Parts: sequence; C-alpha cells; structure tokens
Amino acid sequence: PGTPYLKVTPSMLKRQTGRKGKDAWTVLGGRVYNITPYAPFHPGGEPELLRAAGRDGTKLFGEIHPWVNYEGMLASSLVGMMVEEHEAVG
Ligand code: HEM
Repeated sequence: PGTPYLKVTPSMLKRQTGRKGKDAWTVLGGRVYNITPYAPFHPGGEPELLRAAGRDGTKLFGEIHPWVNYEGMLASSLVGMMVEEHEAVG
C-alpha cells in the first residue's frame, strides 16, 4: 500500500497561500503540491511561482513552461488530490 492521499477541497486549498504561517499549495493536473520548499529554487523567481499559491496553477504553468517535468520535481512535495467541496477528508 502506498502513502494515503489527502483529499483537498477548494476551501482547504484557498487557505494555503503561503501567508499567515501556512505553506503555499498549488494544483497541477488535479494533484496538490506544497510549493513552499521549492520556492527559493524556482528559476522564474519566488513571487512568480507564488502567483499559483492557493489556487489551481495548471493554466499558468502550462502557459509558461509546459515542458517542465513538475511530477518528477515535486514528487516529494505531493500533498494529495483535489476533490469536490462536499467530499469528506480521509
Ligand atoms: C522557469 C519550474 C511554476 C513562471 C522555470 C524553470 C523551471 C520551473 C524548472 C526553468 C525552465 C527552463 O529554463 O526551461 C516550475 C515548477 C513549478 C513552476 C516545478 C511548479 C509549480 C510556475 C508558475 C509560474 C512560473 C506558476 C508563473 C506564474 C516561470 C517563469 C520562468 C520559469 C516566468 C522563466 C524564468 C526565466 O527564464 O527567466 N520554472 N515552475 N513557474 N517559471 Fe516556473
């Protein structure tokens, strides 16, 4: 059995902005990543990366560098999967 996924609802995601002592999360292809550990290393700069914080970054990411292998780069920062608001945590 693998590591269980956290089910992340839109309201949970919205709070993960990287501010107020919380890590910054973003969504890429339905998967939720904690981008805080990677932020200092982002070649495009931290502020640019954090435009995707607390929301779905798939479109922004794809407009700028669709060739970047985010799944490999952020594998250790995978938080879970996006689900609908009504789906319970667990
Ligand atoms: C550059 C990774 C998100 C904006 C790069 C590069 C990597 C990278 C590896 C260098 C690409 C290359 O030179 O071919 C990531 C990862 C992301 C992410 C893993 C995961 C969330 C974003 C987002 C934005 C963004 C959300 C914009 C809102 C940029 C820009 C550059 C860049 C503008 C170009 C920097 C330059 O060449 O001056 N990113 N990125 N990135 N990224 Fe990201």
